[in-house]
Amino acid sequence: MFVQRCIKVECGSEFDLDERLYVCARCGDLLDIERTQSPDREAESLRVLWRERLQSSDARDRSGVWRFREFLPFDDDVAVISLAEGNTPLYDAPRSADYCGLTALKLKHQGNNPTGSFKDTGMTVAVTQARRLGMRLVACASTGNTAASLAAYAARAQMLCAILVPDGQVSEAKLAQALDYGAKVLEIEGNFDSCMRVIQELAEQSSLYLVNSINPFRIEGQKTVAFELAEQLRWEVPDHLVVPGGNLGNSSAFGKGFRELLGHGLTRKQPRISVIQAEGAAPFARFFAEQGEAEFVAEKEPHTLASAIKIGAPVSWKKAWRAVRETDGRVITVSEQKIADAKAMIGRDGIGCEPASATTVAGIRKLVNDGFIRKDESVVAVLTGHLLKDTDYVIRYHAQTLTAPEPAGARPLRATFANSIIRVAPRPCAIESALKNLS
Ligand code: F0G
Repeated sequence: MFVQRCIKVECGSEFDLDERLYVCARCGDLLDIERTQSPDREAESLRVLWRERLQSSDARDRSGVWRFREFLPFDDDVAVISLAEGNTPLYDAPRSADYCGLTALKLKHQGNNPTGSFKDTGMTVAVTQARRLGMRLVACASTGNTAASLAAYAARAQMLCAILVPDGQVSEAKLAQALDYGAKVLEIEGNFDSCMRVIQELAEQSSLYLVNSINPFRIEGQKTVAFELAEQLRWEVPDHLVVPGGNLGNSSAFGKGFRELLGHGLTRKQPRISVIQAEGAAPFARFFAEQGEAEFVAEKEPHTLASAIKIGAPVSWKKAWRAVRETDGRVITVSEQKIADAKAMIGRDGIGCEPASATTVAGIRKLVNDGFIRKDESVVAVLTGHLLKDTDYVIRYHAQTLTAPEPAGARPLRATFANSIIRVAPRPCAIESALKNLS
C-alpha cells in the first residue's frame, strides 16, 4: 500500500519499505513515502474515527501522530515506539498579532512535545521503522533538538544511539537531554553541515540507521502535524502557514501533509507555506530570490544566534522548494535583532519559544509589511522548540548583553523589550519602591 519513491520525476524509481535507504539507490535524489492505494475510508468517516480516538486509552491513540495512522506506512500490528507525542496546543497570540500588524495570529507550539521540540513527531515514526528493520544502532547529526529527541526514543526502544554535534555550538539544555537519555554524544570540530556530511557517509557503509530528516520516515511523522492542525481548525486550513527553515525537513513535511489532506478531500485548500531563515544562514532564501533558476548554493560559513538553524547545506531543500512553489509561499530572511525582539514578544504572550522558532513571528511581521500577508488573513506560525531549550540567550537578551555573530565580529543587539532583573534590599519598602513603576 506504500512504497518509497524517488522525488525526481524523470527517475521515479520505487523501493520497498523494507529497504534501508535514505536517497534513491538509482539516482541519489531524495525519497518520498508514497501511497499506492487510497485509504478505505472516506474523508468524513476518517474525521469521525480520529475524533473518537481522542477518548481511547490505546497508547497509539494517545499519540497525536499515530492517531492518524491511516496515513502512516505501517501495518496495524506494528510495535510503536511512542512517548505520547503531538497533541500540541494552538494558541491565540494577541500581542504577537499586534506586533505583526495582524488582527489575529495563532501559534502552533511544537515545543510542547515530550522532549521540547517538533522533532518528536518525526522521531516516533523513524525509530518505529528502525525497530521494524531490526536495527541496533540509530544515529543523527544535530544542532541539538534532533539529538535530544532521538536519544529519548532510542532509549524507549532500548536501542543504541550515537549523535554527532558541532563542538561548542549546541545549547546546554539540549546536550543535557541527550546525555541523560544515555546517547553517545560525539563532538566534531566544524559545523552542523560537517556533521551531516560525515554521518551520511558513515550510514552508506555501516549498519547504523540514520534518522535525520533526509530519512523519509521522519517526514511521515512530521506531516501529521498538518492533520492535527487542520483538525484543530475544524478542517478549515489557514491562509498562511509560516515555519522556520534550517535543514528544511519541517517545511517539507507540512507541504506533504497538506497535499495529502487536500488529495483525500479532508480539506478544501492548502495554506501558503512560507519559510523564514536567519540572515546569516539563508541559502534557501537566496535560492528563492532567484526564483529557483540558479543553482542551489550552500552557505559555507553559516552564522546565527538561533543555533538550531545554523545550517548552510540543508538536505531537504528540494522537497521544501516543492512545498513553497506548490502553495505559492515565500522564503525570506530576518535579522538577528528582529529574531530577538520577536522572541521576547512571543514570551509576552505567555507562550515563549527558542530563538529559531521566533523567526516565524519576525518573518510574518515583514511579510505583512510587504503586503504579502493581509491584516485580516488567517495565519499560523509554527513554534518549533521550547523556551527552556536555550535560556542563556534569554538571560543575555534581557540583561542587554546579547551580541550577534557576524563575519566582521560580534555586534551588540538592542534589547527592545528588555526585562532586567532588579537587585533590591530585603525590606518591604525597597520592594514597594521597585514595584512602583510596574507597567
Ligand atoms: N527550529 C528548531 C527549534 C530546530 O531545532 C530546527 C532544526 C528547526 C527549527 C529547523 O527545522 O531543519 O526541519 O528546517 N533542528 C535540527 C536539529 C537541524 O538537529 O535539531 P528544519
